[in-house]
Amino acid sequence: MGILYNRVADQLQSLIHEGVYREGERLPGVRVLSRQFGVSISTVLQAHQTLESRGYLEARERSGHFVRLARTETPMPSMARPKAQPLPVSARDMALDLCSVERNTLVPFGAAVPHPDYLPLRQIQQASIWAARQGLETLDYSFPGKPVFRRQLAQRMTSLGVLVAPVDIIATNGAQEAIILALRALTKPGDIVAIESPSFPGILQSLEIVGLRAIEIPVHPVDGISLEGLQLALEQWPIKACVVVPNHSNPVGVCLTDQRKQQLVTMLSEAGVPLIEDDIYGDLPHEGDRPRPAKAFDQTGNVIYCSSFSKTMAPGLRLGWVLPGRYFAEISQQKYFSNLATASLPQVAVARFLEQGGYDRYLRSARQQYRDATERMRAAVARSFPDGTGISKPMGGFVLWVELPKGVSGTEVFGAARASGINVAPGKMFSTTDKYENYLRLNCANPWTDRIDRATLRLGEIVHQQLAQTNR
Ligand SMILES: Cc1ncc(COP(=O)(O)O)c(C=O)c1O
Repeated sequence: MGILYNRVADQLQSLIHEGVYREGERLPGVRVLSRQFGVSISTVLQAHQTLESRGYLEARERSGHFVRLARTETPMPSMARPKAQPLPVSARDMALDLCSVERNTLVPFGAAVPHPDYLPLRQIQQASIWAARQGLETLDYSFPGKPVFRRQLAQRMTSLGVLVAPVDIIATNGAQEAIILALRALTKPGDIVAIESPSFPGILQSLEIVGLRAIEIPVHPVDGISLEGLQLALEQWPIKACVVVPNHSNPVGVCLTDQRKQQLVTMLSEAGVPLIEDDIYGDLPHEGDRPRPAKAFDQTGNVIYCSSFSKTMAPGLRLGWVLPGRYFAEISQQKYFSNLATASLPQVAVARFLEQGGYDRYLRSARQQYRDATERMRAAVARSFPDGTGISKPMGGFVLWVELPKGVSGTEVFGAARASGINVAPGKMFSTTDKYENYLRLNCANPWTDRIDRATLRLGEIVHQQLAQTNR
């Protein structure tokens, strides 16, 4: 049923895009649409609601549903051209601030953390209670990971085209630890690492903590990381590793095609540079099948795959994993020396949840919820922000990357939003340069409430005010 109404909504949306239904026009009545699509009236009503939340329809009392397009055609943010030279990284302060403020005290558009309503809390609770009853099984060290957990992961990875055995997997404290372990194993302080630009701030922090320099490769809003840019950087600099989020990158939300993943993997393998793949949003596409990881194209063991359940189960589980490929010895050593092992209890609980089989069903509904929440937020931002704003169209995940009109500072907006009780992530956190000073990232994984609605309007007002000041 849920899938059916989304399909109807998608078809109507395409008809709107193709101009079959124009802005301001009334859609055919519910009965007509129900006959046309061969679905029930309640499915049509749900499709209407979905299109309203995506900003494509407006319900007028006793008159029906009318097409609205005006601001949903907002342009995408432009592709930045970062300085083509390696720079030291200093990303710590703002990121710590962003994550340490309490969720309930500020409107949570800042950190990319899903609202608990979206998470499978009941299943995690039940699995955790079950795990706690297993006694010693959950109380010993589990280096390099609990066999039950690694077996479940091996099954999931195999279904994505990555043929691994449980013994090829190391459990970690989230994806962030996996990335840091990989960087530590592959580099020494002062080395150069290629990253995406804009980049998830946690990757910048990981580089900073290991003392590395970043060379930023631009990300195109539709194609993803520029392979031409990466090739040039590989020719010019002694790059020791490359970190990429190929599926629904953070903050742009773009997903590389299989062909580009293949090219990325081949290019790096030929250059002898390991690829650290962060696939944390891979399970959350907005449309179609779960995309394959770049690791699925790896013939040589050159790809180090990192992921976690922070976006799909709960960030507080702190449960991730790494497939180190041919760097298994180095990375498992780093893991052991940094903290011996990942906590056993969450591994046993999550293995239980995966074994029980409800996870994929949960993911199907989570994908739709994140897509709807992101589109609703996108439409609200398009309506309330000034002309000249660009908004990403993410292919998965739940963040928006917003380019503010020229001259408006994301840092100033961040400050004014804080004073109004709203948290946002200012663009400057996403680079070692000041390239993204006029950008913001917004977390959309919040159920739509009056508070969220008002906060989006207030943000729009703040941006309008900042723009008026720059024009003075
Ligand atoms: C792209 C990306 N990688 C890694 C992380 C950190 O993940 P974890 O909580 O599993 O350490 C995040 C969290 O926001 C993220 O967005």
